[in-house]
Amino acid sequence: MSDTGLLSVPGHAPAVARAKSEFARDLLAGLEARPKRAPCKYFYDREGSELFERICELPEYYPTRTEMGILHAHAGEIADFMGAGATLIEFGAGALQKVALLLDALKRPGAYLPIDISGDYLQGVAAQFRQMRPGLAVRPVVADFTRPFALPPLGHDARRIGFFPGSTIGNLDRGEAVAFLRRTAMMLKGGGLLIGVDLVKDPAILHAAYNDAAGVTEAFNKNILARANRELEADFDLDEFAHYAFFNPAMQRIEMHLMSLSRQNVSLCGRDIAFAEGETIHTENSHKFTVDGFRALASDAGFVPRAVWCDPASLFSVHWLEAGAGRF
Ligand code: AVJ
Repeated sequence: MSDTGLLSVPGHAPAVARAKSEFARDLLAGLEARPKRAPCKYFYDREGSELFERICELPEYYPTRTEMGILHAHAGEIADFMGAGATLIEFGAGALQKVALLLDALKRPGAYLPIDISGDYLQGVAAQFRQMRPGLAVRPVVADFTRPFALPPLGHDARRIGFFPGSTIGNLDRGEAVAFLRRTAMMLKGGGLLIGVDLVKDPAILHAAYNDAAGVTEAFNKNILARANRELEADFDLDEFAHYAFFNPAMQRIEMHLMSLSRQNVSLCGRDIAFAEGETIHTENSHKFTVDGFRALASDAGFVPRAVWCDPASLFSVHWLEAGAGRF
């Protein structure tokens, strides 16, 4: 084994080696589990983030432009809820247009803190913002926000506003979502969270959004295998796996899988992984909500759900959740 650092990475190992070893460890654990799975957060290396940006432009993928339309239509009202001098904390950086729209509507925004798991991508985002808005303090934070993490010191009276667009919350299962929201409510005390949430709808619309004609979602899904080949010296044959995405009505979610098209063996970090023909790797869940269902979830996590805005066709929703009074 070369530089994957799977067996021994000291605490002070370079960030890149540490990130690689986490990917190696999590992917191996997922492929040795039954049924096989791979954590969807590993979609987002540089290539994967670029593929996701292309997904957002697809005619079939309605969430991005629908959410943007909702924000545009209600920016003034949203800014009133957010208040003056707010520090805007974005969970998962890169929704450039959406953040720019909010910053335009906000009164005297204090600072912009993008949080992202991909340090590479984050640096790019931060550089773009510094150029776009020379007057704004941009403080990128590299972290996996699905786990506990610390914010940099913000000053006592900074009003903290979270922004979690794109329905990324749908990647989490219910327990994880409540835990994430609970920690976020603590972190934002005295402020609030603006969160985009995709809605349950005609399964045909959902199916098309995750099975686009141009095959970009397929490439995005397979990027996790391509990334393993690039970073972990795995030997996945991408043509021997099929993109398989469907709506699971009982769970109210889109599931993405990669299906082995033959009986085959793949080598990963020196281990041999056997696939039966038709066996799948479950790569992502994308949960869909009703407006009331999501408000109930937010309440369970300690938020006070206030306003909610939807597009005229009720494809997507944007919620303003208050994090309660009092500060640390
Ligand atoms: C970024 C998690 C919101 O679930 O719709 C897009 C990711 N997966 N197409 C989503 C995704 C397939 C996206 N999220």
